[in-house]
Amino acid sequence: MKTSAALDRISPSPTLAISARVAELQRAGADVIGLGAGEPDFDTPDFVKEAAIAAIRAGKTKYTQVDGTPELKEAIALKFRRDNGLEFRPDEITANVGGKHTLFNAMVATLEPGDEVIVPAPYWVSYPDVIQFAGARPVTLVAGADQGYKLTPEQLDAAITPRTKWLILNSPSNPTGAAYSADELRALGEVVERHPHVWVFADDMYEHIVYDGFRFATIAEVCPALRDRTLTVNGCSKAYAMTGWRIGFAGGPAWLIKAMGKLQSQSTSNPCSIAQAAAVAALTGDQSFLPERAAAFQARRNLIVGALNAVEGMRCPTPEGAFYAYPDVSGLIGRTTPDGRRIETDADLVAYLLDAGVAAVPGAAFGVSPAMRISYATSDALLAEAGRRIAGACAALG
Ligand SMILES: Cc1ncc(COP(=O)(O)O)c(C=O)c1O
Repeated sequence: MKTSAALDRISPSPTLAISARVAELQRAGADVIGLGAGEPDFDTPDFVKEAAIAAIRAGKTKYTQVDGTPELKEAIALKFRRDNGLEFRPDEITANVGGKHTLFNAMVATLEPGDEVIVPAPYWVSYPDVIQFAGARPVTLVAGADQGYKLTPEQLDAAITPRTKWLILNSPSNPTGAAYSADELRALGEVVERHPHVWVFADDMYEHIVYDGFRFATIAEVCPALRDRTLTVNGCSKAYAMTGWRIGFAGGPAWLIKAMGKLQSQSTSNPCSIAQAAAVAALTGDQSFLPERAAAFQARRNLIVGALNAVEGMRCPTPEGAFYAYPDVSGLIGRTTPDGRRIETDADLVAYLLDAGVAAVPGAAFGVSPAMRISYATSDALLAEAGRRIAGACAALG
């Protein structure tokens, strides 16, 4: 028996691999500050946990409707109306086992060999792999630090071909933290409007983690003409610190939602019934902790971005949201470590920083090098220490 061609087209998630490596080093007693993981360090709010416990006690422990209970779909509809001004009927909503599953369902349900999907880079690691698993081709468009890590309408226009099926838009972005304003989205949307065969996968997973008064917007909201060819994707993982509960969801045209449900009915079936009840509480309960947590992330962003920009050879645009910083490290390539190793790539730099006690993820994983992703979802004290270690290690380079 050998593995399938579809499986051979993908690689294991590099970010999950780094988290596993850090956990292993820490278990072995190494003093490593893990800035590799893509999850908030905050706990799931108590009222969400209580709702899950109540669901267990009430016997909500059985199979549910495949793509979400009526209660969860109602809660998701409420969330889209309240936060995004978007109206979706229950048959226009799907709930899945995390946002990654939403992506998987949408791509596998729609892509054919030869199809193209436009993926702005730096990108979240799963986009190209899931697209390739589905047999299609990711077309990566590099939006580097010089353009604030944002795709321009001209770049988009030039990349669309008759084979383009989807444009992936992720704002705020993993791994850069860049977020598109309503005007920027409108300008991209105008390009998509001119190409009626192109759909938009709007990944809004970090919607609630934005800074400096940034006003979050999503493309279906600012370009109503695109509503019938946009899948607006979100989830509980990041905003509600519920990464382990595995609830992602989306709103979009009924035929697409139905197609995704068909795939889900023959793979995972329903998301965990208890997690669905918890998600109802998260989406419909008191939302006032969201800006409080965003404010805590903003202070951490200021701390780490300040520390990174103080390092000679690093250049880090200020993220508008999410909890990642993505310094361009071109200025450190070609330098030599105290024990005589030459830093040829961002992976070499990340390996050197790991020896200095800080774990990051090389930019190569996200399609734009030389750079690295720093996740600042950790305590101020650890971030300050990580900043000192990075500064010390980089200053020691010859
Ligand atoms: C941009 C983006 N979208 C979607 C997801 C999926 O999140 P989950 O599958 O944990 O709900 C992530 C997680 O890292 C992400 O960074």
